[in-house]
Amino acid sequence: MDEKSMFLEVKACLEAVLQEGKKASNVDIQLMLETSQRCQSRIQQLAAVEKNSQHKALFEQLQANVQSHVSILLAKIDQLDKPPSDPSTDQQVPSVASSPHKSSNGIEDRVPESTGKKDPQRRAAIEETIVKKGGLTFQDIAGLHDAKETLTEAIIMPLQFPQLFTGCIKPWKRILLYGPPGTGKSRVAEAISAEINSTFYCVSSSDLVSSWVGESEKLIKELFQHANSQPEGRSVIFIDEIDSICRQRSLREEEHTRRMKTELLKQMEGADNSSSSEKIFLLCATNCPWELDSAFLRRFQKRIYIPLPDRDARISLIKIHTRDNNLQLTDKEWCYLADSTDGYSGSDIANMTLGALFGPIRDLRMAQYWCQTAEGHLTPCTPDTPGALNSRMIDLPPDKIRPRQVQIGDFIKSLQTHRRTVTEGDLVKFKEFTEDFGENG
Ligand SMILES: Nc1ncnc2c1ncn2[C@@H]1O[C@H](COP(=O)(O)OP(=O)(O)O)[C@@H](O)[C@H]1O
Ligand SMILES: [Mg+2]
Repeated sequence: MDEKSMFLEVKACLEAVLQEGKKASNVDIQLMLETSQRCQSRIQQLAAVEKNSQHKALFEQLQANVQSHVSILLAKIDQLDKPPSDPSTDQQVPSVASSPHKSSNGIEDRVPESTGKKDPQRRAAIEETIVKKGGLTFQDIAGLHDAKETLTEAIIMPLQFPQLFTGCIKPWKRILLYGPPGTGKSRVAEAISAEINSTFYCVSSSDLVSSWVGESEKLIKELFQHANSQPEGRSVIFIDEIDSICRQRSLREEEHTRRMKTELLKQMEGADNSSSSEKIFLLCATNCPWELDSAFLRRFQKRIYIPLPDRDARISLIKIHTRDNNLQLTDKEWCYLADSTDGYSGSDIANMTLGALFGPIRDLRMAQYWCQTAEGHLTPCTPDTPGALNSRMIDLPPDKIRPRQVQIGDFIKSLQTHRRTVTEGDLVKFKEFTEDFGENG
């Protein structure tokens, strides 16, 4: 197997493990283990042939990370192989991949509902969802002007100028962001947390569903109570991937999911009726709004469509994701990039851009001739460059080496391997949903 295939396999394995681990139910832990082990052995092989000491150290680091992941999975499998513990004892590991228990009706069920985490554990889990202020702001989000405006009015202004929102002007309380995957919904939420001073809880529904079987409804109740009791102004609760909790009712729906939905609806209603109604702002996000139960949909005062980036936003996206890099692009080349990325989501563009940024790094490994820059750094050049030094990268002082500028050719190559991931069919579904329920962001 050549080096490139090994790289691709490591990448595919890591993605497969992540994907499996993110599933809301029926996580195949054995598959995760086997894939992680395969990944580990490939990394080992890559580390063995790698000549660059920095790259080798990176491989070793990655190898150690995957190793610890493998140990966790082995411990989990070991735990699941043991008979279920006494319900009165605490369950230490979240049941992300609990072994299926056959219930009396023969349907596979998860951990018995009564196995409970104790209050301190739930409290700790809630406190873990509180987001510390990060560095990301609205400036780091391309496009989405209307969405940013609405969210500023809904969340940021009422917190900064509560005196403006009196009488009939009541701030919004519940907003749903929906749109194709990778358009920046989670990123917008992260940016809001940095713009406000009050407590911001970021909850991923798939974690809630998979780790807290039978406990999720208590967790939701306590989350809202916690948010209500915060001293400083209005708290924001962000529930990402809300569709994993609030799917339309179905006959096959499990009891704990039903109870969790009921609790969430109750909390949303409670926020309307209680005296503390101004204390919580609920922001939710989903990639598939049509799967939401209509009872939930109705309770969002605004449903904002977060679309694919338009032409200007696509240029801003590339600029944001190359902010710290050295680009050499003409105006015409920028236009070419904006046109060629039509239909790409923000994350498609981020990935494509990252692929392009690797071009100059890849060239370093192949380079045979180097010239000195004005700052005294060494950068690849052609053999006929005056003063060109013939050397392999590995023989040069690492701190002197600088990659060449990123050029249009790097983007063209990357565009060939990074395609759009959102289909026309998906967009039609969003368009129809927006006509029926939403507003454009
Ligand atoms: N509008 C945007 N501005 C800047 N980066 C974006 C934008 N949309 C997506 N991205 C990039 O794509 C990644 C995934 O975005 P994310 O917010 O997780 O998407 P979503 O939650 O809509 O699925 C982000 O980490 C960021 O790198
Ligand atoms: Mg998201």
